[in-house]
Amino acid sequence: MNGYHDAWVSPHRQPEAIITADTRELRKFVAPEILYGDGARFMAGPYAQRIGMRRVLAVTDPGVVAAGWVAPLLESLGEHDIEAVLFQDVRPNPIADQIMRGAETYLEHSCDGIIAIGGGSPLDCAKGVGVVATNGGHVLDYEGVDRVETPMPPLVCIPTTAGSGADVSQFAIITDPVRRLKAALISKSLVPDLALVDPEPLTTMDAGLTATTGMDALVHAIEAYVSNASWSLTDELALAAMRLVARSLPQSVEHPDDLDARGAMAQASLDAGLAFSNASLGAVHALAHALGGLLDAPHGECNALLLGPVMRRTLPELSHARTERMADALGLPPTMRAGADIASWLTEFSKAIGMTSSLADYGLTEETIWDLAAKAGADACLATNPWDATTDDLVGILHDAIA
Ligand SMILES: [Fe+2]
Repeated sequence: MNGYHDAWVSPHRQPEAIITADTRELRKFVAPEILYGDGARFMAGPYAQRIGMRRVLAVTDPGVVAAGWVAPLLESLGEHDIEAVLFQDVRPNPIADQIMRGAETYLEHSCDGIIAIGGGSPLDCAKGVGVVATNGGHVLDYEGVDRVETPMPPLVCIPTTAGSGADVSQFAIITDPVRRLKAALISKSLVPDLALVDPEPLTTMDAGLTATTGMDALVHAIEAYVSNASWSLTDELALAAMRLVARSLPQSVEHPDDLDARGAMAQASLDAGLAFSNASLGAVHALAHALGGLLDAPHGECNALLLGPVMRRTLPELSHARTERMADALGLPPTMRAGADIASWLTEFSKAIGMTSSLADYGLTEETIWDLAAKAGADACLATNPWDATTDDLVGILHDAIA
């Protein structure tokens, strides 16, 4: 028996390749239909026609309209006899009231499907609209895990940023301005029906948006990998995303028209989105949701500022083999395998792509830090953090992030 076991842990095999009662534990993996590649966005019309849509709510924001990505979509829908009701009243970090107005618009016009085009904000807004359209009530009634009972109307997502993963995930993040936090809705019912992942719309992102959204993708990959709900399928996607972000995000920031780099980041966002949708997230996102709700700061920037300090605490929890695989995926030299080294590298990586502000710039006070830590402690993402995070732990991380 021991000989058989030793054969599996020989240098030729990763220890996690061993099949045991632990790795046979029941898992599930949910994903939408996905079309990836040049021109994928033009498949919205044919798909909508095929499933019998007649009048869709087209959810987007003014920036995406101005960038020129919405008009061709509406034209393509028209060519397939589909009427589109445009809803563009979506701001970054969409607030609950906007989702409720979107749901009213959907119902007023008797729409029979939703097509969302944009970054994470329009896509999350579209999910919230869909939930309220078929389930009634208020969007924040569905905060938490598995609270959505009735499926949404058909939803097609076309991401124009590379990071949120909202086009494939079972998550929607909605800002509650009353509690000043970002509420996470997590349900299989929030998985879109179709994701059209097209590199070209990424080319109109400026360097700042490219960096913050790209860091979001990297954090999704890393948190999915260290999550206590990770398994082989999510690991492979998470590691693939880390490889792609480490190699292609700096190029995307410096050369916005490089379609190869944009294509790599579109793929990274997709891989990381599928990984975190199924393995969930951890303390970085729990804190980033609290921070984003309080300061209305860009989600990717909150993540980037917290990633190093959280990973300094998290990575020592991983086995040596798992840390090695992560360091290899990020392209780190063999001398950088300690958790602290990897955490420092992550902070330097975000600075190198232009994210040089710090949490101190936001003027956080001691009182604010305790409030943030308490809110993060109640976030659904903390359930899969690989270590038990107390309020004191989270306060300590925020202090590190400010230093
Ligand atoms: Fe995120």
